[in-house]
Amino acid sequence: MSKSTETGLAELQDLEPSLEEFRASVVEGLSGPEKTLPCKFLYDRHGSRLFDDICNLPEYYPTRTERQILERYAHDIADIVGSKARLVEFGSGAGIKIRLLLKALDRPAAYLPVDISREHLVAASADLAKMFSDLCIAPVCADYTAPFALPELSGVTWDATAGFFPGSTIGNFTRAEAVGFLTGTRALLGSGAVMIVGVDLVKDVDVLRAAYDDGAGVTANFNLNLLRRINRELGGTFELGRFHHEARWNAKLERIEMHLVSLCEQEVIVGTKRFGFSEGEAIHTENSHKYSVEGFRALARDAGWEPLEVWMDERKLFSVHALRTS
Ligand code: TRP
Repeated sequence: MSKSTETGLAELQDLEPSLEEFRASVVEGLSGPEKTLPCKFLYDRHGSRLFDDICNLPEYYPTRTERQILERYAHDIADIVGSKARLVEFGSGAGIKIRLLLKALDRPAAYLPVDISREHLVAASADLAKMFSDLCIAPVCADYTAPFALPELSGVTWDATAGFFPGSTIGNFTRAEAVGFLTGTRALLGSGAVMIVGVDLVKDVDVLRAAYDDGAGVTANFNLNLLRRINRELGGTFELGRFHHEARWNAKLERIEMHLVSLCEQEVIVGTKRFGFSEGEAIHTENSHKYSVEGFRALARDAGWEPLEVWMDERKLFSVHALRTS
């Protein structure tokens, strides 16, 4: 049972995906005619650190642009969220962006960070507890792409509930998955809830491609780390030097696709299973869909949310949307 105190850091609710789930996903993903690996497994301890490095790369504009938007419009966002709110963040990572909101909110009641990376979550929650001593912080280690329950917060009352989903992580879902996710959050957060979502916008393809294939090779390393994780946790025999990171723009589906391309014909073993690769054959590891403002508002409506407000930077690189359950 997770226990909550009125303020301060509550016990972690641990629903981390099991090793068996990881193994089953990897075997399934590599067995089909088009090899894939689910992107949520990119975020082990090392992967989460590499992702924090990506966020600081000069080419990776989304993080700093979204931060600027959140800083500039924090009070407008706080007005929409309301006083004494319970905040649920999906994919809280290092927990930097939420600070901007927490500082602007009127007496926030509770913060529930949800993340798949347990150590990252624990460290970030402890940091935040030091900065916001009046806040109840109840971390949940879970894969939020599957249904999960929020922990009970005994002794805490709130007047509003808001979901926070920054970083254009919504773009890592297909459109249908995004509608499914937003439909699920409506049920999880309850009627009257507000959702604040960061959404990357369609733009010049060279800018997009550079953001996912940086000069220093950090993104390549992040993508390849998935193979390293398979080797370590599942007894895989991937040779990292035999795969190459590639970021492709899919114009039809308006998304950047991350691939790991085999540089030669080779065979790889994962546990007891063998997988053959031809030269140039790719493992598709991630999608990052880009939207227009109207395109995303239509998606939100399809999931039963009413789009309220949208904020952007001057160059219209990135957008932050406020939605309300309709
Ligand atoms: N949500 C981020 C995005 O789509 C995740 C991300 C950034 C990412 N760079 C990546 C995922 C590289 C895999 C590989 O922008």
